[in-house]
Amino acid sequence: MEMSARNPVSRKEPIVKIRIMTVLVSLGVVFTLLNSGVIRGIPNVALAADSTVSGIVSDATGKPIRGAMVKATAKGKAVTRFTTADGRYEIMPPVGSTELTAEAYGFGTKRIALDATRQGDANFQLSTRFDVTRLSSAEIESLLPDNSDTRLIKSTCIDCHTLGTVMIRRGQTAEEWKAFLPTMPSRLMPTRPFAEKPVEFTALTSALEKYFGPNADYFGPDAMPPDPNSVKHVPVADEVTRATIREYDVPNMSSLPHSIEIDQKANVAWFTEYGFKGNDAVRFDIATETFKTYPMLTPNVLPHTGAVGKDGRFWIALAAPGPAKLAMVDPKTGEVKEYKWPERDGRAHTVRVDPKSGNLWFSGGGMDELWSFDTKKEQFKGFKYDLPKSWPTDSEPVYKKVSGQALDPVQGYSYDVGIDSKGLVWFSEIFLGQIVRLDPTTGETRDFKAPGTINIRGIHVDQQNNVWFSSYFSHKVGKLDTRTGEVKYYQTPTANATPYGWVPDPQTGNLWFADQNGNNITRLDPKTGKFTEFPIPTRNANPRFIDIDGQGRIWFTEFMQSKIGMIDPEGSKKIASIH
Ligand code: HEC
Repeated sequence: MEMSARNPVSRKEPIVKIRIMTVLVSLGVVFTLLNSGVIRGIPNVALAADSTVSGIVSDATGKPIRGAMVKATAKGKAVTRFTTADGRYEIMPPVGSTELTAEAYGFGTKRIALDATRQGDANFQLSTRFDVTRLSSAEIESLLPDNSDTRLIKSTCIDCHTLGTVMIRRGQTAEEWKAFLPTMPSRLMPTRPFAEKPVEFTALTSALEKYFGPNADYFGPDAMPPDPNSVKHVPVADEVTRATIREYDVPNMSSLPHSIEIDQKANVAWFTEYGFKGNDAVRFDIATETFKTYPMLTPNVLPHTGAVGKDGRFWIALAAPGPAKLAMVDPKTGEVKEYKWPERDGRAHTVRVDPKSGNLWFSGGGMDELWSFDTKKEQFKGFKYDLPKSWPTDSEPVYKKVSGQALDPVQGYSYDVGIDSKGLVWFSEIFLGQIVRLDPTTGETRDFKAPGTINIRGIHVDQQNNVWFSSYFSHKVGKLDTRTGEVKYYQTPTANATPYGWVPDPQTGNLWFADQNGNNITRLDPKTGKFTEFPIPTRNANPRFIDIDGQGRIWFTEFMQSKIGMIDPEGSKKIASIH
């Protein structure tokens, strides 16, 4: 079979046909196709393996659209690529794909049925369409003023999910928000005790009416849309047009997949399913694209994040209050074990493996302690740390404070954990917006308050022992120089990004983090400070803690969409290489 190497960027042919490059297996019949480029007379046949589809996406006047998103969908699977400056794309749809869609910022979505009878380019002509329901949460936030009402909405609602989910019930009055909120996620996860803070609850629900109610600017059901130019939208970067993004539906579609962790040796992606209807760990075999589910032993135990031990066992922090703090899945034996620590009330949050000892460090939300677990002796240990006397002005409770509602007592809710090259342990305290260093040999701690940061989610300790952190509601990432204590901030291109979990790429030296509000997976070159934002194809995905595989591909979960996804930043090279 003749195959020519082609570069989708420099391709000159005016007409590009859908070519079935290898072998089409269908209805029990094997068609071996020469590289004729055209297949006739095979009705209703889904596209087969290794076919490449290409074409141009343009606007109604025929002008090419750069950065349009082209997605091929098969059952439970999707592959996405983006158009280059000349509007061209090339995509290798997953086996069994039946549909190709194209969309772009400011344009509507168009579909083309994909089957082997198609001839010629799969070209799209998109019509202009601006619709606020298609904006990312970061774009929605960029249209809101920054005041005490919006700060209260942001800090209460951009947590489990983003404003895109809030928009599902836009048009509700304060009374309707009041009735709805206490019931919100009850089917799937614990509800928030909104009624415990009546003054704040009243302020919150009237703020929701003001900005997402019947008469709200832009977001009310009958509101005039904003001027598209007033939205802080970031165009797709050139580098993104080289990427291929894959998404997979998880087997249980109401499971709230939380965080993902790669076992590079086994070529496996492990993820936790946090919701009541999930309550498990799932092992995804990357090569065969198959899932295997391991249910937890205790119901509703909220499997949060996980970490792969050196021996391939998967450790999980359990976030429900109660004695079970950790769970372990041994994929060799299929055994699931839970470890109880009834002496502690707190909820386990994020777990990391100490690279030297193989023991675990994990955060104990709700208690002023960081926790460790000796994986051989199976013993827990708590490390107490001191708290400031009062909340700093740059902390989340002060940021969202409503007058007449007392502040909670100061709480050192430990969140993400990292271990540096000297064996010192670093962790973030989410609501204090600070980073703490713990010396495990002496138990001594030292606080590093990040000025201006009101909330820290993920952290990453790099090889020079700098601590990179997600300044979540300040929409930035920070770097703490642990020798000088100085903090340097880097502004993401998406003005209202909310950075979450981190992962380094040891091959390139780049850092990656999930941006929940911008719906991006973002790359940062720490040498130049340059960001590249890779859009997640599904809206309102809500990625959390992410990881990287042995080929430099970034894996993420879509908490609110019941998917996992993978970004191959150099996916185009692989398309060229199969020709
Ligand atoms: C504790 C986590 C959590 C927080 C905090 C949270 N939500 Fe939700 N919310 C959820 C989950 C989970 C769902 C999905 C529920 C489902 O699909 O049944 C959801 C769904 C929704 C929906 C869609 C409901 C529907 O009809 O489909 C709206 C609207 C919503 N939330 C609004 C809000 C607002 C407003 C806030 C802030 C005041 C907020 N949420 C804060 C967890 C949360």
